[in-house]
Amino acid sequence: MPGRIPQSFINDLLDRVDIVDVVDARVKLKKTGKNYSGLCPFHDEKTPSFTVSPDKQFFHCFGCQESGTALTFIMQYERLEFVEAVELLARQLGLEVPREKGGRERPQVDPDLYAVLGQAEQYYRRSLRQSDEAIAYLKSRGMSGEIARDFGIGYAPEGWQNLSENLGPVKTEQLLDTGLSIKNEKGRVYDRFRQRIMFPIRDTRGRVIGFGGRAMAKDEQGPKYLNSPETQVFHKSQELYGLYEARRALRHIDRLIVVEGYMDVVALAQHGFANAVATLGTATGEAHFHKLYRITDEVICCFDGDQAGRQAAWRALDAALPTLNEHRQLKFVFLPDGEDPDSLVRQKGQDAFQQFLDNASPGLELLFARQAEGLDLQTLDGQAKLAGLLNPYISKVPDGLLKDLLLQRLADLTGAGRQRRRVAPMATQKPSDELPDKRLGKVSQRLLTLLLKEPVWWFELTEAQRAGLLESKDRLGMLGELIAYIDSNDQVDTEELLVRWSDHPDYPWLLQRAQQSSEIDRAAQQAGFVEGMGRLLDMLTRIARQQQLSNLKESQNVEELRKYWQMRDT
Ligand code: UTP
Ligand code: MN
Repeated sequence: MPGRIPQSFINDLLDRVDIVDVVDARVKLKKTGKNYSGLCPFHDEKTPSFTVSPDKQFFHCFGCQESGTALTFIMQYERLEFVEAVELLARQLGLEVPREKGGRERPQVDPDLYAVLGQAEQYYRRSLRQSDEAIAYLKSRGMSGEIARDFGIGYAPEGWQNLSENLGPVKTEQLLDTGLSIKNEKGRVYDRFRQRIMFPIRDTRGRVIGFGGRAMAKDEQGPKYLNSPETQVFHKSQELYGLYEARRALRHIDRLIVVEGYMDVVALAQHGFANAVATLGTATGEAHFHKLYRITDEVICCFDGDQAGRQAAWRALDAALPTLNEHRQLKFVFLPDGEDPDSLVRQKGQDAFQQFLDNASPGLELLFARQAEGLDLQTLDGQAKLAGLLNPYISKVPDGLLKDLLLQRLADLTGAGRQRRRVAPMATQKPSDELPDKRLGKVSQRLLTLLLKEPVWWFELTEAQRAGLLESKDRLGMLGELIAYIDSNDQVDTEELLVRWSDHPDYPWLLQRAQQSSEIDRAAQQAGFVEGMGRLLDMLTRIARQQQLSNLKESQNVEELRKYWQMRDT
């Protein structure tokens, strides 16, 4: 990897470029006063809430809250890495991107390697057209001519020196650096891929960075698939076969399907699933998920239903945890024994495969189910075991709503919530302090209805009130989930809330609440909401104190107890 790009250059770049030009080249903008506005490219909308400020050189969407500089815009719009976005902007301005020299600098990538790989691709494609045997093989596997062309499928013919003889002026060193050739102990250089169907692997920009080669004959010695080795330009842990092709074929990618083989990707594309990608003979790792979730919010991993497939799914789920949040879904499909996506979609058709996708299992549900397997959750022992098994996984999920939900789920399963309530020594409290959760439930349900209809009312509360309620959101069930969501996504409306919770078991109930009409006028309802939330917060504070008290009593810490009463009386 080359050295870092100096910050001064990035500042310079942002100085020279005009964000209005950058955005306008991609999204139709209209001048509205000082700013420009248009339809947000980052979420679906019918009225423009996306604005670009030439003064601030900043864009912001009031709908989805995306915002940033020309660079962030390019990164998100073109789905590029930071460095790639810098390079793209620099190229447009005719600037060379400087690199810092530093101790940690890795060897420079030889840009000619891409050209060599591109030449190899062309050579393999020519060779396929000239080989009846290879064409017959692909036909026998049901591959159409169009799809072979779309994916640039080729053929590496028999022979040990085809590349040096057919590629034009390339250096032996370059053939070795691209992994296309191998040097034996005697120093002789020969072609790595021989008599193999060639699948070119591309980076996000479409440049060929490596190949997968499938042996054609059954009796072929060597592995069924041979892949390019790791090189300066080819990193298996980062790349996904078919991703470039998927993005070229689809304007918007709702979900990506991760499969195991090259042939699976190609066959799925041919049968209407242009959104399939494959890892390159490696496990699906964290870097893969980062890449996938930059492009889509839903990933479906498709594995064999056998033991090995389950194992692979398990590893993939583990790798995905650090990349998940409440907006990102990870699902799994397990195929019947002996089938893979290629065989399935060819024999049973598009609808059959679609059915598998529609019935995909949510990864996090699998996580809970698998860990709870064989445990008796009615016993303290089973509950403790479950917590012990799940915690290491949950802790990998980044802090945020999803993690909170997982922890809440764990608490529900292990009965931690139930126990806490049972321990609280109600009898010692004065009647007015008694706060059965039933009452909490009733109040919070009424508030939930109001909030669902008018999410913006949440922002009528003071900052301190909001903070206090958010702190106790775990006690508030659905209402807690709603306020956490609304608080981090202002501008949210009823419809969006309903969509967000449409998979929730309580969704019908929510929907009914949202549709409930009321005779009371809006201003009065709003006042009622603000007042009700204030009272809810008071109740929560009292519950928290009670709990604190009971904890203190349990620990019999007299000194702390005295302090508690002092504090309470002031
Ligand atoms: P599979 O063995 O499942 O083969 O390998 P496949 O994809 O169904 O291939 P066909 O249908 O027989 O042509 C799945 C993936 O594992 C990697 C390749 O990436 C392959 O696509 N693999 C497999 C290797 O790297 N080397 C091998 O020898 C076999
Ligand atoms: Mn197969």
